[in-house]
Amino acid sequence: MSESVVELPKIAILGAGSMGRAILSGLLKPGVHVDGGIVVTNRSARSAESLTEQGVTSLATDDDPDANRKAVAGAGIVLVAVKPAMVPDLLAGISDALDPNAIVVSVAAGVPVTRFEELLPASVAVVRSMPNTPAIVGKAVTGVSAGGRSTPEQIALVRELFETVGTVVEVPESQLDALSTISGSGPAYVYFFIEQLTATAVSKGFSPEQAAELVNGTFIGAAALLDASDATPEQLRIQVTSPKGTTERAVAVLQDADLKSVFDRATDAALVRARELAAG
Ligand SMILES: NC(=O)c1ccc[n+]([C@@H]2O[C@H](COP(=O)([O-])OP(=O)(O)OC[C@H]3O[C@@H](n4cnc5c(N)ncnc54)[C@H](OP(=O)(O)O)[C@@H]3O)[C@@H](O)[C@H]2O)c1
Repeated sequence: MSESVVELPKIAILGAGSMGRAILSGLLKPGVHVDGGIVVTNRSARSAESLTEQGVTSLATDDDPDANRKAVAGAGIVLVAVKPAMVPDLLAGISDALDPNAIVVSVAAGVPVTRFEELLPASVAVVRSMPNTPAIVGKAVTGVSAGGRSTPEQIALVRELFETVGTVVEVPESQLDALSTISGSGPAYVYFFIEQLTATAVSKGFSPEQAAELVNGTFIGAAALLDASDATPEQLRIQVTSPKGTTERAVAVLQDADLKSVFDRATDAALVRARELAAG
C-alpha cells in the first residue's frame, strides 16, 4: 500500500456533472485519502450510476428531495458544481444542514463570493475557484480566490483539493473573471487554433485524417516539449526558427497579424460577458 500524501476531510460534491466528475477523478487517485468519504449528488440517479462502484456515495434529488442536505451533513468541504443559475436555490436548501466549520468551494462561473456568504451561515467559509476542462486528465489550471471568511489554512486545503487534478494559481477574487478569460476559456482557444491549422493543412492537399494527425500531433508534441523543457515558449520558438529559413517567413506573417491585439479583444469580450452574466 502506498502512503497517503493528501489528507482531506469528508467531501460532498453537489452536482457531479462534467466539472464535478473531473474533480472527483482527482480525489479517487491513489495517494488521496478523504477521511469520511465522498458523497456526490445529482438530480437523477442515472447521472451517477457508475460512481458507486468506485466507493463514492451517490444521492439523487429526484429520489430524495433531501439528498443535498444528507450529502453535506458532516462534510468538511462542500464543492458546489451545479450551473450558476441554480446556486441560490441550492444554498437556501442546504444552509442549515452544513457543518458550522465547513468550507464551501464554488466552481460556479460568475457567482461572487459575497452572494454565497449572504446565503450561508456566518461560520461557514467560502472559497471561489475556476478550474478548466483538462481537469478530466489531471492537467487543470485552477484559479482559487479567498472569500471574506476563509482562513489561509482553509485556502491551503482547497489548494490541495485542486492540486489532485492539476496546478493552482491563487488570485484575489477581483482577478478571477480575468483569469477565467485566459485559462478557463483557454482550452477553447487552443482547439480553435488546431481547427484553423487543420483547415489550412487540408487546403494544402492533405486528407482530413492526415491533417488531423499532423496538427493534433504537432500541438500535443509541442506542449509536451514545453512541459519537459526548462526553456520558455519564446526560446523553443527560436530553436525552430532558423535565420532566413522557412519558419522565419511564416512567423513574420503571424507577427504582422498582431495576435496579441486579437487576444486582447477576445479576452475583453469574454470579460464583458462575465460581467453581464454576474449582473443576471
Ligand atoms: N465545464 C467547464 O468547463 C467548467 C469550467 C469551470 C467551471 N465550471 C462550472 O461548473 C459548474 C457545473 O458545470 P458543468 O459543465 O459541470 O455542468 P453539468 O455537466 O450540467 O453538471 C451539472 C450537474 O449538476 C447536477 N444538478 C443540477 N441540479 C442539481 C441539484 N439541485 N442538486 C444536485 N445536483 C444538481 C446535474 O444533475 P443531472 O444531470 O441529474 O441534472 C449535473 O450533473 C457550473 O457552475 C460551471 O460554471 C464548468
